[in-house]
Amino acid sequence: MGGHQSFPRVTLPKERVVIVTGANTGIGYETAKWIAMMGATVILACRFEERAREAMTKMNAEFQAEKDRKTEGVVDYPELRIEFMKLDCASLQSVMDFVKEFKNSGRQLHVLVCNAGIGLHKQAYTDEGYELMFQVNYLSQYLLAAHLLPIMKTSGEDCRIVLVSSEAHRYSEFNLDRIQGKHCNEQNFGRVLFYGNSKAFQIMQMFSMNRRLQNSNVTVLSLHPGMVETEVSRNFKDMKTFTVLTTLTKFVGQMKNPFEGAETTINAAVNPALKGVRDVYYTDCKPATIHNRVTNTQNQESLWTYTQECLKKGAFLPDDIVKCLEGE
Ligand SMILES: NC(=O)c1ccc[n+]([C@@H]2O[C@H](COP(=O)([O-])OP(=O)(O)OC[C@H]3O[C@@H](n4cnc5c(N)ncnc54)[C@H](OP(=O)(O)O)[C@@H]3O)[C@@H](O)[C@H]2O)c1
Repeated sequence: MGGHQSFPRVTLPKERVVIVTGANTGIGYETAKWIAMMGATVILACRFEERAREAMTKMNAEFQAEKDRKTEGVVDYPELRIEFMKLDCASLQSVMDFVKEFKNSGRQLHVLVCNAGIGLHKQAYTDEGYELMFQVNYLSQYLLAAHLLPIMKTSGEDCRIVLVSSEAHRYSEFNLDRIQGKHCNEQNFGRVLFYGNSKAFQIMQMFSMNRRLQNSNVTVLSLHPGMVETEVSRNFKDMKTFTVLTTLTKFVGQMKNPFEGAETTINAAVNPALKGVRDVYYTDCKPATIHNRVTNTQNQESLWTYTQECLKKGAFLPDDIVKCLEGE
């Protein structure tokens, strides 16, 4: 019932500024391209400049083709308003550099799409000492949102933070003592579990942030894009069960292409009907259920405190940012 849902083809003003992390390929690529094709200024926050610039060239070529086809909702600019800015989510320092550059641009910010992610990685740690998926998928993008929040709060009505999570949040545990996987070795490190944890933390972040942003112009939404054929599998090609699962999914036709996979993200970012909506996790552009481990307020608040402790250790979270995060 209800049929296939997509995002409304709205026209966005060029003054609407959107950041998409991990925008050079996969779901992030389609998200950035479509939001730019609807008229907004989109910043591709990517770790490799060359990959991002190749993606921008491809986006503009595809944009010309959509214009020629007179595709509904595509603006008539000579070129897309897209820009590259360097962001490596495996480095908190890189997040800080990105924030500094963005602040220096004097721009407003209306939508932050936290899409960059790695799936089912082997046990690995960043230079800052955190489990890789924890930092790339969650911690760095929490830090990014925290530092961009003061700008979003003064950027006018209907600003949104969109967290690209996953149904994998169901395959998680909540145990702060084990959160970095230091009790594991390479053999017994649960790659699905630690990926699932990072995706669960994003949804928990949505609830905790929204609690503090109740009376503000900024809302936080989260989503599962579906099973999407992208480069996400590059880290787990060695895992036989996933190869079988992927093949089976393709066979029964449930695997989405990157555009179909981006529809739920784009909807969360641009659908005017979602103005003021908080605390919703979407799949196929529709609200979906969340595991109760993740909706548990006590768990959310413990994670919030733990996250801030991690970031304060490296002096990444100054008092003014904490105050803004806490709704002051
Ligand atoms: N595909 C699925 O079935 C699926 C299902 C559920 C959720 N998701 C989520 O959807 C999001 C997008 O995934 P995708 O399927 O589009 O995967 P993808 O094709 O592998 O794209 C991931 C993007 O994240 C970027 N990225 C990875 N590590 C980064 C880092 N350290 N710093 C900055 N950017 C980094 C990648 O950049 P590089 O090209 O430089 O590596 C790439 O642009 C992820 O958060 C993923 O967890 C995907």
